[in-house]
Amino acid sequence: MENIKLDITKAVQFLNAETLAAYEPQVKAAQEALENGTCPGNDFLGWLHLPSSISREFIAELNATAQVLRENCEAVVVAGIGGSYLGARAVIEALSNSFQWLLADGKHPVILFAGNNIGEDYLAELCDYLKDKKFGVINISKSGTTTETALAFRLLKKQCEDQRGKEMARKVIVAVTDAKKGAARTTADKEGYKSFIIPDNVGGRFSVLTPVGLLPIAVAGFDIEQLVAGAADMEKATAPEVPFAENPSALYAACRNALYHEGKKIEILVNYQPKLHYMNEWWKQLYGESEGKENKGIFPAAVDFTTDLHSMGQWIQEGERTIFETVISIEESNHTLLFPSDEENLDGLNFLAGKRIDEVNKMAELGTLLAHVDGGVPNMRLVIPKLNEYYLGQIIYFFEKACGISGNLLGVNTFNQPGVEAYKKNMFALLNKPGYEKESEAIRAKLNK
Ligand code: PA5
Repeated sequence: MENIKLDITKAVQFLNAETLAAYEPQVKAAQEALENGTCPGNDFLGWLHLPSSISREFIAELNATAQVLRENCEAVVVAGIGGSYLGARAVIEALSNSFQWLLADGKHPVILFAGNNIGEDYLAELCDYLKDKKFGVINISKSGTTTETALAFRLLKKQCEDQRGKEMARKVIVAVTDAKKGAARTTADKEGYKSFIIPDNVGGRFSVLTPVGLLPIAVAGFDIEQLVAGAADMEKATAPEVPFAENPSALYAACRNALYHEGKKIEILVNYQPKLHYMNEWWKQLYGESEGKENKGIFPAAVDFTTDLHSMGQWIQEGERTIFETVISIEESNHTLLFPSDEENLDGLNFLAGKRIDEVNKMAELGTLLAHVDGGVPNMRLVIPKLNEYYLGQIIYFFEKACGISGNLLGVNTFNQPGVEAYKKNMFALLNKPGYEKESEAIRAKLNK
């Protein structure tokens, strides 16, 4: 099977000829540090050889659990936030029919997401939608204590038990969490839920190829074996023995760091398929949480084109020249739709008659790339043959591996996220959580100043 490809020619032209080549030894060292476990955060490297280590039996166990949910639920709510949610949503939305809501036939569960916000309206409307539905829940949290997820889960668990009875609830609630610690584990064990373990050495944003992502994706009806196969092939294609010039993750990591040091502080991930919106979101978290620390790191932004060409397009073309773009380019659409001819041609679009819609999209993509490069925006292109499970697996591993290398090049601990604690501390203090009395006093004094 063909691999995804990275084209960096329209980025390298913004660097001087030796700059990228000079990265080769650094990238090699960064990769060795991952392989040898000598980099900061080395207790979170379980993702590195994860794809090649997933067994057929484990996939079968996940599929069997997914089948129980598929057979017993009209809707399945995936409760989780950040790394415990975005990967699953990225893959499910990329592969689902764009109108899955309207097409819901009651035979296959609709996949819904919760526990990723604290919007009262969102939760109230979700509970209302589920009122007359046979629904199940996948409760995903590595720590098992994340407020957003725990809050949603308490509501959903109660509603599920009230509507379906304790016994059925036990069958359709599944936990994906730590082996021993956290409230999600305690609840799962006490209630006797089927549960899957998130390995200790895989951090949230690198966990899509664990049950965190694989179980919801299987429940949605997609082929997780193919997803893992794609990731495993990318694991090979980015292995340390692959020469620098042929290793897409190494080149991507080197190129974005080289651009960063030339003042390109913002990377914009671009797609031309609305289905990839959540892939953007997953990528933003992967790179933002991994690299944005110690007052360093490329700011990861994302746009959906051509939609956002009518909003952010102006800024990208002519705003401050501190940006570069990485375009996810899908070569072959899954559907064929030809533009019809019209005798009256009132809209003047007959010059497109007989062309595929995708051809128009491709010309928009090419035209935009050339315009943005002319406007001083370096562009990389990640070329994907087709949107399917196999290539999504490749994309996931490609970005994960590049992130590991890139974080080491930047000199940060790629695998921690100390900065996300600050808001939690303040929120708990403001909500008078037991144990936060001192912080409560301090924060109230600050507010009254
Ligand atoms: O990447 C990360 O580690 C985070 O985004 C976590 O996934 C997120 O905070 C959710 O944490 P948990 O799975 O413990 O609920």
